[in-house]
Amino acid sequence: MSRHDLRSAFLPPKMASATATYGQKESSDQNFDYMFKILIIGNSSVGKTSFLFRYADDSFTPAFVSTVGIDFKVKTIYRNDKRIKLQIWDTAGQERYRTITTAYYRGAMGFILMYDITNEDSFNAVQDWSTQIKTYSWDNAQVLLVGNKCDMEDERVVAADRGRQLSDQLGFEYFECSAKDNINVKQTFERLVDIICEKMSESLDNADPAVTGAKQGPQLTEQPERPHQDCAC
Ligand code: GTP
Ligand code: MG
Repeated sequence: MSRHDLRSAFLPPKMASATATYGQKESSDQNFDYMFKILIIGNSSVGKTSFLFRYADDSFTPAFVSTVGIDFKVKTIYRNDKRIKLQIWDTAGQERYRTITTAYYRGAMGFILMYDITNEDSFNAVQDWSTQIKTYSWDNAQVLLVGNKCDMEDERVVAADRGRQLSDQLGFEYFECSAKDNINVKQTFERLVDIICEKMSESLDNADPAVTGAKQGPQLTEQPERPHQDCAC
């Protein structure tokens, strides 16, 4: 079963075809310098889908429709004179989809690990999500920790300092965001893209073709014929 079949199998037909059309339209656009695969992970209901919709479509709905399996959207942005195509995968937070969602970690260059500042359990689960990243993804994958729903200050149970402390401990950068009020959403994605670019430049500088490892890095671009040793991101 191909990845696409697998994905479609876990989506309602209407949703699968709508997304496939969107993906197809975008994937026919080959005019980009780099393509980065990014995953959004975290407990169910923390706001992963809302975060992606805010970023990709500038929309928000208060209704909660829990994601089934996995879905993705494509967005192309400009950073430092480079056209970067982002393939952003929105994973289901529910435990029962864990096998399917972790299968997509491989090849991801960046993760947005999200919790909900009004939900202690989602914060307590961050350590486990971080372990999942270490287990299933490339060693150099970049991770940002996001405390979402910062518009709900009255219902906050996780202080910003605790988020910051945990992110320091895990070696991730930290953002507080709101998909609802559009706070720090774009900034989070752009920072993630920037640190992926920084890492990519470092890796290319230190590249040793003789080195092979069990966990090889992902493809950085869909345009192998175009050399990208000169990344200036
Ligand atoms: P799963 O798909 O089950 O993993 O959940 P999810 O993480 O994708 O959550 P989703 O985006 O579906 O959001 C869950 C609920 O939280 C929905 O009712 C959203 O409207 C709401 N929500 C998401 N982000 C925010 C936010 O920033 N602020 C507020 N107030 N509500 C939010
Ligand atoms: Mg969702």
